Amino acid sequence: MAKILDDISRTFGEYLLLPRLTRRDQHIDRIDLSAPLSRSLNGAPGSLFINIPIVSACMQAVSGVDLAVALARQGGMSMIFCSQSIESQVEMVQKVKAHKAGFVVSGANIQPDATLQAVLELMTRSGHSTIPVTLDGSSEGEFLGLITDQDFWEFEDDLQNLVKDHMTPKAEVIFGVEGISLREANRLLHRHKKDCLPILTAEGHLSALVFKKDYVDHQKHPLELLDEGKRLRVGAAINTHDYQERVPALMAAGADALCFDSSDGFTEFQMDGLAWIRAQYGSEVVIGGGNVVSAEGFDYLAQSGLVDFIKVGIGGGSICITREQKGIGRGQASALLEVVARRDAYFEETGIYIPICSDGGLANDTQVVMALAMGADFVMMGRYFAMTEESPTSKISINGQMYKPYWGEGTARAQNWQRYSEGMSSRKMMFEEGVDAFVPLIGSASEVLETTLHKLKSTMMNLGSDSLKTFTDQAIITLVSEQSIVESGTSNVFKFSGNRDVDESDWGN
Ligand code: IMP
Repeated sequence: MAKILDDISRTFGEYLLLPRLTRRDQHIDRIDLSAPLSRSLNGAPGSLFINIPIVSACMQAVSGVDLAVALARQGGMSMIFCSQSIESQVEMVQKVKAHKAGFVVSGANIQPDATLQAVLELMTRSGHSTIPVTLDGSSEGEFLGLITDQDFWEFEDDLQNLVKDHMTPKAEVIFGVEGISLREANRLLHRHKKDCLPILTAEGHLSALVFKKDYVDHQKHPLELLDEGKRLRVGAAINTHDYQERVPALMAAGADALCFDSSDGFTEFQMDGLAWIRAQYGSEVVIGGGNVVSAEGFDYLAQSGLVDFIKVGIGGGSICITREQKGIGRGQASALLEVVARRDAYFEETGIYIPICSDGGLANDTQVVMALAMGADFVMMGRYFAMTEESPTSKISINGQMYKPYWGEGTARAQNWQRYSEGMSSRKMMFEEGVDAFVPLIGSASEVLETTLHKLKSTMMNLGSDSLKTFTDQAIITLVSEQSIVESGTSNVFKFSGNRDVDESDWGN
């Protein structure tokens, strides 16, 4: 007969943290948010850490080059999706590794004979207000000038006018020459009171752009996640079908961590993959396994001695319908608590510490805080990043509000790539495990992370913790009644309904 568990499948929203003693010597700016990504032995530090406990999901609508760069600059790491050909995933990893801090390859460029209408469309599509003008309209073409939203008035100028008649020509543009240091480029921006500095090759071709806002951002967020060669770190997702070809290509491209992208990692297929990769690369590679939702699943992956970190979560993702479609999964809080308890016991038994990643279903900042308090070393989020300017999709306006498309990896849309990829046999999809949706555009990754991390640190102050490890150790968590959830919201007051600020309660759908 089937075994029925006594516990109920619970979610993060059903718990609250009790405050502990906040000490006088604590300071929010001294809180350490670093988190391990690799396993470690007897308390010695592992080989890979992230500076903030956040990674972005292995998803087409989430982890592309721009987000990977933006997130690493804030101290986290993206897992570039594997639902694409090996070549294009490798190219993405290479682009992140080649990214020179502060020097950005221009993503939106135009030719001098284009119309202002075309510039406007490009600005809306790309979200950029400064567009380099190059002879062939490419990011490496001969540089002719710059056009910004200050160079024409949408409702005054004839939008059929040509770019070349409105742009600031090269002769009047302050630019740097390739080889210039970032410090010198920033000095030029400062001295000439500019927001954007084009960097040109000796032959006069566009090479990169340097932005004042990146300088400001860097001063505010000094936690950039860099490898030994001062390159940004980036992770890459892998699957259980083509790892023998994909992993060597990703390792050669410089991926800093690999991560199986699977809704159910409690499988012999994943174990075969882990064993093969470890045999080829030994401890040189950091590999995540999962997803699991039980102590049994944890033990299977952990006891092989092959895995670095383990992802927890089935069916909680915002675009996920696995539970409805297949009847498997578990409330994310229950899954996490059981796996963390088993991980801690495993550490006591063996001295091996395996970081846990809580993956999916984090509907707001409070739930990020709760997942970390419950013992996740770091969290993985999809929707949160899909809503940012840096996610790889184009924004679209619906009823005056800007949205971005967001779809699950288990949708036909995501799985369609196999049909176009040589060597990847197209497996017939009988049903979908995810949906295709839209999420509101809420700002840049650095802006949303700033708020989330500030809230996290503020709660850590309430618990008297200076690091994520002490946060979990100090956490006393209580289950709340339905009535107390009602009490947690505002009560008996009229809420201001104007659009003063982003209302985070909307994030929970
Ligand atoms: P979110 O942060 O709640 O949006 O959840 C993101 C997580 O959902 C990912 O990291 C995956 O674990 C999971 N996921 C991604 N695509 C699908 C899908 O199509 N079906 C079920 N789960 C998915």
